[in-house]
Amino acid sequence: MLPVTFNNTVLRDGHQALAATRMNTAQMLPAAPILDEMGFSGLETWGGATIDSCLRFLNENPFDRLRALKQAAPRTPQIMLLRGQNIVQYTSFPDDVVAAFVRASAAAGQDVFRIFDALNDPRNLVTAIKTVVACGKHARGEICYTISPVHPIGTFVEMGVELETMGCHSIGIKDMSGIIAPRVAFELVKELKRRVGLPLTLHTHDTAGLGAAAYLAAIDAGVDAVETSIAPFANGTAQPDTVRMLALLAGHPRCPHLDRAKLQELRVHFEEVYRQLGKFTNPANERVDTDILVFQVPGGMLSHFRNQLAEQGMADRFDEVVREIPVVREALGWIPLVTPTSQIVGTQAMMNVKFGRWKMICPSAQDIALGKYGKVPGPINPQVLAQVARQSGRQVVTQRPADLLAPGLEGHRKQCADKGLPTDDETVVLFAMFPQQVEALIMGRGAATPARTPARTAAPVPAAVVARAAPPVDPGQAGNMVLNINGTRHEIMVESLD
Ligand code: CO
Repeated sequence: MLPVTFNNTVLRDGHQALAATRMNTAQMLPAAPILDEMGFSGLETWGGATIDSCLRFLNENPFDRLRALKQAAPRTPQIMLLRGQNIVQYTSFPDDVVAAFVRASAAAGQDVFRIFDALNDPRNLVTAIKTVVACGKHARGEICYTISPVHPIGTFVEMGVELETMGCHSIGIKDMSGIIAPRVAFELVKELKRRVGLPLTLHTHDTAGLGAAAYLAAIDAGVDAVETSIAPFANGTAQPDTVRMLALLAGHPRCPHLDRAKLQELRVHFEEVYRQLGKFTNPANERVDTDILVFQVPGGMLSHFRNQLAEQGMADRFDEVVREIPVVREALGWIPLVTPTSQIVGTQAMMNVKFGRWKMICPSAQDIALGKYGKVPGPINPQVLAQVARQSGRQVVTQRPADLLAPGLEGHRKQCADKGLPTDDETVVLFAMFPQQVEALIMGRGAATPARTPARTAAPVPAAVVARAAPPVDPGQAGNMVLNINGTRHEIMVESLD
């Protein structure tokens, strides 16, 4: 068997998981040529929460970052994480906006598109995959791994088969929570390699300390690539670090060759960057945390929840809320927990504890129950569905969610023109997702020093509440869930988990 290859995630998932996505382009560029010489099979550099962070906190044009990184590291394919129909946001966009985003990214140099849907609904992937293929770029279809009574291994294998028929060039297993057991990784890789004739990558997080062991098992089973990072933007809630992975593979017939001296150079560089980003790092994210194995809740979500509950005056109810998360997940059809479903389930669990179970259902949880995010893996709890129907007066939808959305690109282009902004596709697709931030950036009123701290919850939720119809997420405030309760706006900061 050929050596396994490593993709490196330090410029995307590494700092998204461990430093609130705050690494800026200037901090990346000195490392890019070294990363490019290493022989990694890919560099994950873009997408996920990085685009939001560029606009909201770093005062950077994300497309400029993409071009700069391509120039600094031209040889290694660059990978982005794309949330299917949600692009890099928390809510669905029309097909024409999704397609325009993919075309603009491809034109700016993006090579590989990792495309996932939080519900594993292939209908939410089809537009992105088709457009990537039409652009002549590499479409990697992702299978979100989760554990539930409706997710036997066969469900993931069937999805792999479907991704192949949809035209993907490779398949990824995406274990955003770091919960895949080595034995499961072995079996899943074996079965996918048997049934799907495409290269296969495993992506995991070391949150519960399983990541490196899962990679070893997957490598024994024939996985083509695994994803590692560079310490200290590695381990904990990020990917296992490259040096550790190489040490674990010492003597293994599939161990790749990577220059240790160059890895050390990278380590020294990123130690300094980690120090610079100290106010965004958190020891809770750096340590092995087995809570996730007990509660089936991603580690980053738990640490975030502690802060959130404290701000809501609910610090003493942490255990209750955490125990409520699987209850909400089951009622909503055992959806995987990944952006945006992790935020939605967490918010609803908090509301169940605060106001009584299902007394109040947040608009985005209503949308999941009603099928507006896509087909959920299991059945929706009938009582919850009845309550949603009463509360919202809306019906379940069964068509592909994006079929309900009218084309949006030209409307956004006109809005850009009306505001005196450029009307090229790059600007327009960013404006479609982050209107205020794009306007501020281009008008020179951009956010922010890179050191700005994130906005926190606006105000405690009042005791007596009635949910109002409100957009599940205010697109201008991506990164935060906005709840509109009794006419009062409540912003709940969410952290991207992908
Ligand atoms: Co990840």
